[in-house]
Amino acid sequence: MSTTENKSVEITKGINGLDKVILREINGSSAEVYLYGGHVTSWKNEHGEELLFVSSKAIFKPPKAIRGGIPLCFPQFSNLGTLEAHGFARNRVWTVDIDPPPFPSNTTNRVFVDLLLKPTEEDLKIWPHSFEYRLRVTLGPAGDLMLTSRIRNTNTDGKPFTFTFAYHTYFSVSDISEVRVEGLETLDFLDNMKNRERYTEQGDAITFESEVDRIYLSTPTKIAILDHEKKRTFVIRKDGLPDAVVWNPWDKKAKSMTDFGDDEYKHMLCVEAAAIEKPITLKPGEEWKVRQELNILAHQYHVQDCVVVKESKANAREVVKKILIFCSLH
Ligand code: BG6
Repeated sequence: MSTTENKSVEITKGINGLDKVILREINGSSAEVYLYGGHVTSWKNEHGEELLFVSSKAIFKPPKAIRGGIPLCFPQFSNLGTLEAHGFARNRVWTVDIDPPPFPSNTTNRVFVDLLLKPTEEDLKIWPHSFEYRLRVTLGPAGDLMLTSRIRNTNTDGKPFTFTFAYHTYFSVSDISEVRVEGLETLDFLDNMKNRERYTEQGDAITFESEVDRIYLSTPTKIAILDHEKKRTFVIRKDGLPDAVVWNPWDKKAKSMTDFGDDEYKHMLCVEAAAIEKPITLKPGEEWKVRQELNILAHQYHVQDCVVVKESKANAREVVKKILIFCSLH
């Protein structure tokens, strides 16, 4: 955990008395992480605007995973496998990791918290592998949100284990019909709605007019979600996560989910940095390290060419500043 002047990390009680950690940056941006699930439930920009979607019907009570924010899918993505859907990391209580092994990444001047998940005796009965999952949630000086995951095989029986993984991020959008995703065009995807049959994306960018549930394969490290109405763009940058799930349940499926409002599908979009097609195998002592970084740009940004396509003169300076910060980080 880091606490420096004018920046803060606070542990407090959230909904239903669950422990949560609040990260605050000097520029006014913030993030909240529940120990239940190691689950980021809020990410706000410097104006206090919420950037993640959390359902008004989300149930903050074990064993139901929180509907929205950033659930962690581990050690199994979806329900293909012997475990419950999306694995158990999202509905276990994590601890604050007060003395993690050093992270090579530079977190100077950043606010962060380290969390740790280890299997319980009960977990070992359903997934007989010993592991340490270390999660660092970092809020950068420009309000960017970074999640770093380190998963280590601590088996003492000499056995490897295999898993799939996703950062199941729910982005808040103004109107799903006005949103487009760039960076996945021309790629192959597995369609979860058609028994994971393989297709090739045809269009220029992905737009939404019905239920979508796809696993895009071999995706680039940057994906952008352009929200025309809000005049802002999310940029997802990922390392070590080749796949990207795109999910919106649309109206019919929304109605079938007890922890999701009937019309809420209009205001959310999941784009999930993941490792699914090629599961990860770790031998004892081996560690897998991946990360996802989220940035928000106030105006529309094309992932391919770093070009602002719409801007007002009044905000031009701010937009250019943010792009320069973003580009210097990458
Ligand atoms: C997505 C899956 O990642 O998560 C969908 O691709 C699934 O198939 C969705 O419906 C939500 O899953 P859950 O278990 O949180 O309801």
